[in-house]
Amino acid sequence: MTLNIILLGPPGAGKGTQASRLEDEHGMVQLSTGDMLRAAVKAGTPIGLQAKAVMDAGELVSDEIVSGLIGERLDELGPDVSVIFDGYPRTAAQAEALDGLLGARRRQLDHVIELVVDEDALVDRITGRFSCAKCGAGYHDRYKLPKVADTCDVCGSHDFKRRPDDNAETVRTRMAEYRAKTAPILPIYDARGIVAHVDGMAPIDQVNDAIEAILATAG
Ligand code: AP5
Repeated sequence: MTLNIILLGPPGAGKGTQASRLEDEHGMVQLSTGDMLRAAVKAGTPIGLQAKAVMDAGELVSDEIVSGLIGERLDELGPDVSVIFDGYPRTAAQAEALDGLLGARRRQLDHVIELVVDEDALVDRITGRFSCAKCGAGYHDRYKLPKVADTCDVCGSHDFKRRPDDNAETVRTRMAEYRAKTAPILPIYDARGIVAHVDGMAPIDQVNDAIEAILATAG
C-alpha cells in the first residue's frame, strides 16, 4: 500500500532525521523542500538564485516555487512510491496546493505527524548540527558524533559542512515563521482526523518507534 505522510514541526524538530530513518527502514522516499532548494542553490539554477537570500534570512521561499518542486518530484517518482513530506507544506496555500497535487495523482494523505518539541532546546540542536560534505549523512556536536573522529560513518570522508542558516539569529526567524505560518495549518488536518502527535524531545530511537507505531495503524 502506498503511504503519503507529512512530518510537521519547527526547525530542528527532527523531521529530516526521522524521514531518513523511514527511507532506510521502509523504502519510502523523503521529499524535503529544504534539500531541493539547497540543491538548486548549489547548482546555481534560476530557482536557486531566487531562493538563496530568502533562505539565508530564514524566511519562506514562495509557495509557487516549492509546490512546483514537489509536483515535479511526485511525477518523477510515479504512483507506486510511498512518500514523506519533510518541510512541506509550510503555509495554508501550500496545504491547499498539496491537496491538488495529490488528488491529481490519485494519492491521499494518510498521516500528518507533528513532532512536539521544546523550542528553547531547538537552538542548541540546530547550531550543533553538521553533515558530511560528500554523502550528506547528518551529525551533531553532542548528540550524534561520528564513531571515528572526523570520519564519516557512512562514506569515510573527512570533509564536513554546516548550513549557512544554522546560526542562532536566523534560527529565531525560522521559528517565528513556523509559529506564524506553519503551525496554523495543523487544524486543517486535525479536522480530517489524520493528525498524530509525537514527543520530539525523546531520544531519536524512541521518536522513531512512536512513528512506526502510527504507521502500523495505516489502513
Ligand atoms: P528546511 O531544510 O526544511 O529546514 P527546517 O524546517 O528549518 O528544518 P531543519 O532541517 O532545520 O530541521 P529538522 O526538523 O529536519 O531537524 P533535523 O532532523 O535536521 O528549510 C530550510 C529553509 O528552506 C527554510 O528556512 C526556507 O527558507 C526554505 N524552505 C524549505 N521548505 C520550504 C517551504 N515548504 N516553503 C517555503 N520555504 C521553504 O535535526 C536537527 C538536529 O537535531 C540534528 O543534528 C539531529 O541529529 C538532532 N536531532 C534530531 N532529533 C533528535 C532527538 N530526538 N534528540 C536529540 N537530537 C536530535
